[in-house]
Amino acid sequence: MRFDVITLFPDMFDAIGDFGVSGRARQRGLWHLHAWNPRDFTHDVHRTVDDRPYGGGPGMVMMAEPLEQAVRAAQAARTQADAASGDAPVILMSPTGRRFDQGVAQGLSETRGAILVCGRYEGVDQRFIERCVTDEISLGDFVLSGGEIAALAVMDSVVRLLPGALNDAQSAPQDSFNDALTGLLDSPHYTRPESYHGLEVPSELLSGHHKNIAQWRRERSLELTLRRRPELIERAREQGLLSKADEAFLRSLMPLVR
Ligand SMILES: C[S@@+](CC[C@H](N)C(=O)[O-])C[C@H]1O[C@@H](n2cnc3c(N)ncnc32)[C@H](O)[C@@H]1O
Repeated sequence: MRFDVITLFPDMFDAIGDFGVSGRARQRGLWHLHAWNPRDFTHDVHRTVDDRPYGGGPGMVMMAEPLEQAVRAAQAARTQADAASGDAPVILMSPTGRRFDQGVAQGLSETRGAILVCGRYEGVDQRFIERCVTDEISLGDFVLSGGEIAALAVMDSVVRLLPGALNDAQSAPQDSFNDALTGLLDSPHYTRPESYHGLEVPSELLSGHHKNIAQWRRERSLELTLRRRPELIERAREQGLLSKADEAFLRSLMPLVR
């Protein structure tokens, strides 16, 4: 897998290439990361990448040309490295894009990667979007100063799904939202000590009884999801992912949930 990032701040991506799960996965060669700065594709002495918006208004807009040149360079480099990865999606990070979630991450993890474009200022010239962008992704209903943090989040969530990225391959399937199981929220976690300021680890987790532990976790997942994200319960139900025991447990909770 290979990610190319178009960014005015390439150094921000050291955060993912060098540290933790994603850093280890990169060192193991599971994925590659290349950053391209649109300033390197300008032709004036100031290396200008932005200009004032037509029609007036506050702020600046990223110009189409340096962005397009950077994308074309990334596409050429991808093709040269691996012919099949040259036509990777070009994804603009944008608050107006499709909402990112675990399903999108899972889908991307099964591809050869993507070219991620990070906007800054008021955004990017629409003609760049029309000519080069295949998809727009939003991290959520809030506005960041730039697309870099969104791109980092997208890459981190995708890379940890690559086979061999996590030391314990069971971790990802147990995470929240994992569609392979139920798309439910994860259950609470505890580690040593057994007692912390008078708060005890639930006895089920200390029992050593695998079936009881699995049931406790399942019920806590169902309960948390019902309280915080009831629409995920509905989706799991529609997908036939809830057992009779799950449904019975959920019914037992109904009087408690407002
Ligand atoms: C200050 S924002 C521009 C916001 C834009 N004027 C709007 O209101 O939709 C600058 C850049 O940050 C990135 N960005 C901001 N919020 C984002 C989000 N929720 N998801 C993904 N990218 C985001 C985009 O790349 C955007 O071009």
